[in-house]
Amino acid sequence: MKPDCLNNKVAIVTGARRGIGKTIAVTFADAGADVVVCDAMADDGKLKETEDIIRKRGRRSLAVQADISLRSDVEKMTRLAIDAFGKIDILVNCAGVWIPGQTLVECSDENWDVVIGTNLKGTFLCCREAGRQMIAQRSGCIINLSSQVGLTPAMGAGAYSTSKAGILMLTRQLAQEMAGYNIRVNALAPGIVKTDFNSDFWREPDKEKEASGMVPLGRLAETEDIAQAALFLASDASGYITGEVLCINGGWHPTSSVGSR
Ligand SMILES: NC(=O)c1ccc[n+]([C@@H]2O[C@H](COP(=O)([O-])OP(=O)(O)OC[C@H]3O[C@@H](n4cnc5c(N)ncnc54)[C@H](O)[C@@H]3O)[C@@H](O)[C@H]2O)c1
Repeated sequence: MKPDCLNNKVAIVTGARRGIGKTIAVTFADAGADVVVCDAMADDGKLKETEDIIRKRGRRSLAVQADISLRSDVEKMTRLAIDAFGKIDILVNCAGVWIPGQTLVECSDENWDVVIGTNLKGTFLCCREAGRQMIAQRSGCIINLSSQVGLTPAMGAGAYSTSKAGILMLTRQLAQEMAGYNIRVNALAPGIVKTDFNSDFWREPDKEKEASGMVPLGRLAETEDIAQAALFLASDASGYITGEVLCINGGWHPTSSVGSR
């Protein structure tokens, strides 16, 4: 990929306040994109920080507080992006939640509604709104964050793994429907990435050693590992790839190893 492979592109990255979304947003800016950064949480100033980093690197950026599980917020986010930058070339659906530790039989209605409502419905709403703009443009690229546990069930993952499996079919369905408009839709399926999302797995050195021991490549993923894969899928280097899921897991294929009891 060329260093400026996203020159003149406009991207929206959800969940860009921290973690994987933040690294993807900054990586895309470094590759030449203007980036709308969105998150449900903005009061702690971290979303603004992502916007500032991108601007300091010479690209345009706009921070938008939006809860992706709410249609009105998603409509606001896409409208503000188009008003500010005139188009949407790339959408990365990174915002997500995990409520760990419950089996599906233990899962409360509230747990189910929050996890499915954010991860699956929220991703759908963002794809629908940005997709309408991309169809009008007759071009675009969507990248959805699934997970290794969207492919393989894992103890304690409950509604989360179900939501991430749904994202895979959402991705394939959209890819079929949108290919005729020159829009590619792909998914990323990370293993364990070192973010605040799942710090129980790695914050203590013993825990990290134990979790890394499950991974054939011998380490957990850094957010940069995921951002580089996202950059590939967003760039013309992957121009003939759609409806696919790219696993970034160091060779880790869990069976029942997450939160086992
Ligand atoms: N960290 C991992 O090990 C891992 C592995 C596989 C997949 N993923 C997926 O990658 C994505 C990012 O994970 P992360 O580790 O960076 O998590 P993170 O918790 O560090 O970041 C997620 C961001 O999403 C935001 N968010 C949550 N609900 C939202 C909503 N309704 N609307 C808008 N924003 C919302 C949060 O405020 C947060 O800033 C998630 O979809 C997650 O499921 C993470």
